Amino acid sequence: MPDSHQMILVLDFGSQFTQLIARRIREAKVYCEIVPFNADLSKYDKSKIAGYVLSGGPASVTEPVSPRMSKEFYQQNKPILGICYGMQLVADIFGGKLVKSDMREYGRAIFSTSNSSPLFADVKKESQVWMSHGDSIATLPKGFHLTGSTDSLKTAAIANEKENIYGVQFHPEVYHTTEGKKIIDNFLFKICKLKGDWTTEAFIDESVRKIKQQVGDGQVIVGVSGGIDSTVAALLISKAIGKNLHAVFVDTGLLRKGEFEEVKKILSNFKLSLHAIDASSLFLDRLKGVEDPEKKRKIIGNTFIDVFEEQAEKIGNIDFLAQGTLYPDVIESVSFKGGPSVSIKSHHNVGGLKERMKLKLVEPLRELFKDEVRELGRNLGVPAEFIGRHPFPGPGLSVRILGEVSQERADILREADAVFINELHKRKIYDNIWQAFAVLLPIKAVGVMGDSRTYENVVVLRAVTSVDGMTADWAHIDNDILADISNKIIRNVKGVNRVVYDISSKPPATIEWE
Ligand code: XMP
Repeated sequence: MPDSHQMILVLDFGSQFTQLIARRIREAKVYCEIVPFNADLSKYDKSKIAGYVLSGGPASVTEPVSPRMSKEFYQQNKPILGICYGMQLVADIFGGKLVKSDMREYGRAIFSTSNSSPLFADVKKESQVWMSHGDSIATLPKGFHLTGSTDSLKTAAIANEKENIYGVQFHPEVYHTTEGKKIIDNFLFKICKLKGDWTTEAFIDESVRKIKQQVGDGQVIVGVSGGIDSTVAALLISKAIGKNLHAVFVDTGLLRKGEFEEVKKILSNFKLSLHAIDASSLFLDRLKGVEDPEKKRKIIGNTFIDVFEEQAEKIGNIDFLAQGTLYPDVIESVSFKGGPSVSIKSHHNVGGLKERMKLKLVEPLRELFKDEVRELGRNLGVPAEFIGRHPFPGPGLSVRILGEVSQERADILREADAVFINELHKRKIYDNIWQAFAVLLPIKAVGVMGDSRTYENVVVLRAVTSVDGMTADWAHIDNDILADISNKIIRNVKGVNRVVYDISSKPPATIEWE
């Protein structure tokens, strides 16, 4: 928890939208954390908590056993906003009557309010909201009054201004609730009287101070992959301790064209000790004859650890290991497991590093979401093109070279991929695509060149649109552009005589081919 900021605590009852609530609050430049509803709150300095949000959740308060806090929780004299299940909980605790419904109301509704409550100050009298609930409130709890209704639900919002407790049946955190941002802002600024001073600059100052405090004169080692998280973590730490940060960047032989040089160049602009190691022959040696995708991943992970450890020994006297762990990974390990609230996929490519190295951890991005890390990167001086780069898997090109990985096949793929990506940039469509890359198939196809037959490689082009990588659609790139890219690859990349475009969505396909 940052020590100079007021904060909001979001108590999680397992809603699929809990993370979104936190995102919206952070977007308003207010610091917040998500904790399970039954977490021990004694570690928090109460004077720093400006208010609570109770999330939705799949349970029903009409059941004899349902997740809840004791009555004392509501008597702390702090503002509370209950959303969906959170509002029903408030109603139940304060003596309201709830009715169970067999039918879940789901989706769009029109919400009307008389604006009598500060929660709805300046909110349009009628606006679209997003519903997802079964139970509803039949009798208002004591001391509360009705502050809004929808066409199908009379009690859609309640409030008790004296106690500073508010409830909404709909989800203000989702995009489809058109006045949602305003409602959340009203809670934060009008009701909790927050300032909105959780800015990137404030975060940097505070992190630098904390890192100095934690690390002192110690030496820190960090593995950078060229990905945004490890790069930003490294730069933030370097701002605090300069040359005492040792950034190890390994060329696995499976990076994209020009990537090793590019990342080295970016990092060399900052004050840190950079150890760029070309270990490509070791990686390619160990991958010889291996075709199984999971085995490839394991070999790469283990080889990375070996190279990293060897480097750490060379440097000597290392005290801390830094990692670019983000907030979603942290919530994943602490969240209330009663609902579907967290479904983020993570790939632990070098998961063994922490256990093997037996070092204390420095994780300066633990409190941040991905978009906050990008913003932080911009602030720390990372070039915009680097921040906007598509995600790239830890095992690198190896999962895009189907079958055996060799120097020659890696070179063919690197060239084809570079042509594809350059064209997307040139035509200004790169930023509309979530991830694009080339894949090399383990088969050869027949072709003709001049008078003779060829028997050469097939390259697949894969491009997808997505929000989070969990689901994805194939990108509908214009046919003429695809035709041009295909010609350029066949003409310029030796060893390729056929290019195909992948038109599968996820699910049931995945984004990568292995
Ligand atoms: P899939 O192929 O599962 O990919 O649809 C979803 C996202 O995860 C990336 N990905 C990986 N990232 N190590 C990583 O660090 C891996 O082993 C790995 N496999 C897939 C993929 O690039 C996409 O962004």
